[in-house]
Amino acid sequence: MKVPAFSDDCSFITIDPADLSLGDAHRLLLHCVAPRPIAFVSTLSASGQPNLAPFSYFMAGGANPCSVVISPLTTRDGCPKDTLRNIRETGEYVINVVSYAMRDGVNLASAEFPYGVSEWEMAGFTPAASAKVKPGRVVEAPLAMECKLHQIVPHGTGPLSANYVIGEVVCFHVARRVLRDDEVDASLVNYLSRLGGDWYEQTTSNSLFEMPRPPKVVKHPPSKG
Ligand SMILES: Cc1cc2nc3c(=O)[nH]c(=O)nc-3n(C[C@H](O)[C@H](O)[C@H](O)COP(=O)(O)O)c2cc1C
Repeated sequence: MKVPAFSDDCSFITIDPADLSLGDAHRLLLHCVAPRPIAFVSTLSASGQPNLAPFSYFMAGGANPCSVVISPLTTRDGCPKDTLRNIRETGEYVINVVSYAMRDGVNLASAEFPYGVSEWEMAGFTPAASAKVKPGRVVEAPLAMECKLHQIVPHGTGPLSANYVIGEVVCFHVARRVLRDDEVDASLVNYLSRLGGDWYEQTTSNSLFEMPRPPKVVKHPPSKG
């Protein structure tokens, strides 16, 4: 039987992103890739002006060396966001991990403020000096990573196109309050995550469960039922 490339079997709607407006494609993508952790990124402009903004296009990529990626999109006007411009110009930034307690300030820091207005003050966050990079870290964040730029990889051009900022973690900061038996305890971090639309979720002891990895080699498939 020849299965059509775009089947319409009543239970699913099958969509070519090229048939959607940019906004609709973006909205659907954000529902598909969820929940996403939030990188609260601290940078300095070339002239030393501090900047702070959240990015949920954020992932780890490897540990040798420790590698992380964020994607500050090109704006609807086709311009780079300040975070991207600053990282391009200085090669340094700090990714602060966002907890539920930080939610209002983080949301506020995502707004556009007139040039010269500090998101740090407006959003009520406290800076601390970093160890290996010039931008400061956020004291309220339970975990933070000082990063140096490895590479920027653009994908596409124009409004809402991706700019993958690949960074190397050169220093970690871990708040003692999120440690239990010398391990980070996710329920103590109380991560804030971003979903589609305006939805968020938090990691709590109720939402967590543990599942050990299977043995490296599974000799027989698990029996059903
Ligand atoms: C929780 C959250 C996550 C966000 N994630 C992203 C993202 O991954 N990429 C992006 O381009 N903008 C994202 N934004 C929007 C930016 O934070 C916003 O455009 C901000 O003004 C950028 O600041 P900047 O110009 O100082 O870099 C997010 C906003 C919020 C509230």
